[in-house]
Amino acid sequence: MSALEIVTFFVYLVGSVSFILGLKFLSSPVSARRGNRLAATGMAIVVAWVFITEFLLRDGGLSTVWILLVGIPVGGLIGAVGARRVPMTAMPQMVAIFNGAGGGAAALVAAAEFLRDAGDSGPLLPVTFMIATLLGAVIGSVSFTGSIIAFGKLQGIVSGRPVTYPGDKIVTGAVVAGILVLGVVLTVVTNSVPLFLLFVALALVLGVAAVMPIGGADMPVVVSLLNAYTGIAVAATGFVLNNYALLVAGTLVGASGTILTQLMCRAMNRSIFNVLFGAFGTAGGGATAGASGDQDVREITADDAAVLMAYGKKVIIVPGYGMAVAQAQQAVRELMDLLIAKGVDVEFAIHPVAGRMPGHMNVLLAEANVPYDRLKEMDEINDDFPNASVALVIGANDVTNPAARTDTSSPIYGMPILNVDQAEHVIVLKRSMAAGFAGIDNPLYADPKTTMLFGDAKKSVEALVTGVKAA
Ligand code: TAP
Repeated sequence: MSALEIVTFFVYLVGSVSFILGLKFLSSPVSARRGNRLAATGMAIVVAWVFITEFLLRDGGLSTVWILLVGIPVGGLIGAVGARRVPMTAMPQMVAIFNGAGGGAAALVAAAEFLRDAGDSGPLLPVTFMIATLLGAVIGSVSFTGSIIAFGKLQGIVSGRPVTYPGDKIVTGAVVAGILVLGVVLTVVTNSVPLFLLFVALALVLGVAAVMPIGGADMPVVVSLLNAYTGIAVAATGFVLNNYALLVAGTLVGASGTILTQLMCRAMNRSIFNVLFGAFGTAGGGATAGASGDQDVREITADDAAVLMAYGKKVIIVPGYGMAVAQAQQAVRELMDLLIAKGVDVEFAIHPVAGRMPGHMNVLLAEANVPYDRLKEMDEINDDFPNASVALVIGANDVTNPAARTDTSSPIYGMPILNVDQAEHVIVLKRSMAAGFAGIDNPLYADPKTTMLFGDAKKSVEALVTGVKAA
C-alpha cells in the first residue's frame, strides 16, 4: 500500500468518525450545533482530500478540474443562500430538494461509472460492481424524481391531493417488474448501454409514480423515507468508487432516515404501508374537509385567560403547527418570562409529531431562546397535566385530541396524545373551528373545562402578554 493510500484511508477514517460523532451530538439541542459543525468539517476535509488526489495529483485530472471549480462555488452559494432564507415552515420542502439533489448525484455517478466501462461486446462487468452500480442508479433516480414531486406538493406547485387513477397500482407494479428484469439482464446477459438508459428512465418514472398517490400532508414522512433511500444510493456509490467516506456517510443517512421514518410513523400510529398506499393526507393539512364546526364551545377573552394563568401554580404550554404558522414563538417566550416572574411554574409539552417535521417545536422554541430544560417530551410530562392550573394549547390540534384514546373509528385512534384534558383549565388558541392535519373533530373543544381564544396565535399570545402584565 502506497503512502498516498494510507493517508487517504486515514482521511476517510477521520471523516467517518466525525459523521458518527456529529450524529451523536445532534441528539440533544444543547450540542446539535456543535454536531453539525463537526460533521461538516469532516466532510470538508474528505472533499478537499479527494479534490487534491483525484484532480491535482492524478494524471489528466487537471483537464477536468474546471468542473469542480465552477460547480462547488455555484452549488455552495445556492445551498447557503437557500438555507439562510428558508422559513421554518418551509423546511420540509428544502430538505426534499436537497435530498433530491443527493439522490440525483448518486445516480449520475453510478451512470458515469457504468457508461465508462460498459459495452455490448467484451466480457461482462463484475457482478458485485453491477449490483452496486444498478442499486445506486435505481435508488438515486427514484429519490431524485420522488423528491422533486414531494417538493412540488409541499410547495403547492403540484396538487397536494393523492393523485390516483384506475389501474395505477398495476402500472407502478409493471414499472417495478421492468426494472427488476432489466437489472438481471444487465448483470448477467449484456452490459448494453440502451438497456441501461431504459433502466434509469423506468426508475425516474417510478419516483413520480410512487409519490403522486400520496397526500401532501404525508410528505414529511415520505421525505424522510426518500432521505433514507438517498443514503443507500450514496452508500452504493461509495462502494462503486471505493470511497469509504461515502460508504459510511451513505450508510448512516440510510440507517438514521429509516429509524426517523419509523419513529414518525409510530408517533402518528400509522404504518409506513398506510402512509405510502393509504392516500390519507390532502392539500393544506386535513385528510377530509375540516370538521369541528358544529360543536358547542365556550370562548374566553385574552384578559380573563391571562388572569387564570398569572394566578395559577403551573402552566403547561402545548405548541403545535399553528404556532409555527403564526411565528408566535418570540411572543410565547415573553409570556413564559412574565409568568415565571410572577412565580408560576411554566413548562412546554412537546409531542413527537407536533408541527410538520421532526423537532419542529424544539427548533422554533430554541430560536426564541426558551431554555431546553423547560421543554418536556410527551412521556416525561403527560403525568403532570393533573397538577397544571392551565394547559395553554397554541395552534395544536391532533396531538391533543382525546378521541385518539377512546374512539376506535377515529383515523388517529391509538396515536399517543398529550393529556391536556387532565389539566384544571384548558385554553385553546386557534383561528377558527377548522380541523388540523387529520381533518377530524376534536372533542376537547366541547369539554366543559376548555375555553377557546380565537385569532392568529401571535396576536393572541401578544394579547395574553399584555393581560399578564396588567394582572
Ligand atoms: P394540527 O393538528 O395540524 O393542528 C394545527 C392547528 O393550528 C389547526 O387546528 C389550525 O386551526 C391551527 N392554526 C393554523 N394556523 C394558525 C395560526 N396562524 N394561528 C393560530 N392557530 C393556527 O397540528 P398539531 O397538533 O401540531 O399536529 C401535527 C399533525 O401533523 C399531526 O396529525 C401529525 O400526525 C401530523 N404530521 C406531523 C409530522 C411531524 S414529523 N411533525 C409529519 C407529518 C404529519 P385553525 O385553522 O382554526 O387556526
